[in-house]
Amino acid sequence: SAAEKGGYDYFMLKEIAEQPRAVADTLLGRIAADGRLVLDEMRITDQELREVDKIIIVACGTSYHAGLIAKYALEHWAGLPCEVELASEFRYRDPILSRSTLVIAISQSGETMDALMAVRHAREQHAKLLGICNVNGSTLPRECDGVLYTHAGPEVAVASTKAFLTQLVAVYLIALYIAQVRGTKWGDEVFAMIQLLAQMPEKVEKVLETMEPVRELARSLANERSVLFLGRHVGFPVALEGALKLKELAYMHAEGFAAGELKHGPIALIEEGLPVIVVVPPRARAVLHDKIVSNIQEIRARGARTIVIAEEGDETVEPFADTLIRVPAVPTLFQPLVTTVPLQVFACELATAKGHDVDQPRNLAKSVTVE
Ligand code: AGP
Repeated sequence: SAAEKGGYDYFMLKEIAEQPRAVADTLLGRIAADGRLVLDEMRITDQELREVDKIIIVACGTSYHAGLIAKYALEHWAGLPCEVELASEFRYRDPILSRSTLVIAISQSGETMDALMAVRHAREQHAKLLGICNVNGSTLPRECDGVLYTHAGPEVAVASTKAFLTQLVAVYLIALYIAQVRGTKWGDEVFAMIQLLAQMPEKVEKVLETMEPVRELARSLANERSVLFLGRHVGFPVALEGALKLKELAYMHAEGFAAGELKHGPIALIEEGLPVIVVVPPRARAVLHDKIVSNIQEIRARGARTIVIAEEGDETVEPFADTLIRVPAVPTLFQPLVTTVPLQVFACELATAKGHDVDQPRNLAKSVTVE
């Protein structure tokens, strides 16, 4: 009913709007007054975390994209080797696990059969199991040794939005917590990052306040046949997520690429007028940043219509952007929290302009409880 949708036409619109709150709720109570993280609820002891020598993340769909971003955070702050695997592939390999392997399964619903089967496969090999889950009392947390809940609240729309942002918060919390417990070379940075993480709800709110041009852009592209997404570092999984949203909702061909791979093939796809959305890393990561700015020039020279998502104050992109979408400047690893939001709004608006029901896209179910 309209009341359930809080005055919005679709649950998806409501859930996109709820993201600052969802992010804040997922942080709530987890940062102590002294600035340290407290995650006792996780049911995995600090001693157990000190014994971990390898992390494997398993998940599907949008949750898998959160996992891909987690890898950057875990390797950087926790200093642990980390692999990310589609849950549906993991159990058909022979992954090398031991008692000191931590397997993190990410699932909004906690009922995704592929994720549950991956967890069972890992259990047989005696790995430690940690779930990241949004639904209290669902199956996944019961099958894991520990769980860190996301507090997105119920997500009704089939396309995941607020759950994704809270999964990112959960993986940042876990990476920073492991760093805090194990003590890494990044001691001061970890402490500073915890403070900055606490500011993310406002940053997401800022993004939401500036989305009207993105909606206009989406409507103007409703008749395109294909949209490409480019990103680098954590912007690469963001590109994959932007493409997935567009496929799911607008039934449009969309692909995400790692920008560095362009010249290894995908650049052949560029033709006159093709919309390409590029996620630009913060200027603070100068090498990454400059490389992607040259990618933008390369594709534009070949006729692409460049839609550039870049942080406020980044003037270097201006000459090469046909459309420029600004996001607040935040640390590189947190940037997916602000760059994903315009992509959600874009896909949602474009699909609506095509007359699709964004809450119930064709052929899809909210949780996939079969393999
Ligand atoms: C996201 O928009 C999708 N509908 C889908 O990829 C989803 O993220 C995937 O099925 C995993 O679901 P889960 O997080 O509930 O396990």
